[in-house]
Amino acid sequence: MTRLELDDAGLEALVEAFYDRVRADSELGPIFNDAIDDWPHHLEKLVAFWSSVMLTSGRYKGQPVPAHMKHRDRITPELFDRWLGLWKQTTDELMEPDAAIALQAKAARIAESLQLAMFFRLDR
Ligand code: HEM
Repeated sequence: MTRLELDDAGLEALVEAFYDRVRADSELGPIFNDAIDDWPHHLEKLVAFWSSVMLTSGRYKGQPVPAHMKHRDRITPELFDRWLGLWKQTTDELMEPDAAIALQAKAARIAESLQLAMFFRLDR
């Protein structure tokens, strides 16, 4: 199978495949399916996010922390592990090996900082 490269076309195909799996997941799926009405718009935003993060394209202009904070009552650290597990599986299957490793490392760091912001704030 031809592996996807770390470019906009590769990220678009990756994001699409990943969220197909997320939506089908018994624990993650309901949270996303309840929160998101306009999937094409969400996927576009996520492609822009990964393009900004991995290719420094500057395409994403959002605020991930408040976006996740809204769902704080349903999101747990265990779910982050599940999300990262699916991300690892999907990137290992679809991406060039170096790209998969870089995407996994980046996601782990972002997941860490999201969790610090969500679960370890002292001023709440
Ligand atoms: C948005 C869930 C982990 C990146 C969202 C939204 C949900 C969600 C429900 C839509 C928010 C809304 O508009 O109501 C989750 C869950 C996670 C998780 C359940 C793990 C347990 C991550 C991770 C990343 C990430 C690890 C990055 C590596 C994003 C981005 C958005 C988003 C960029 C769009 C924010 C915006 O509106 O600008 N997520 N997420 N998420 N998520 Fe996650």
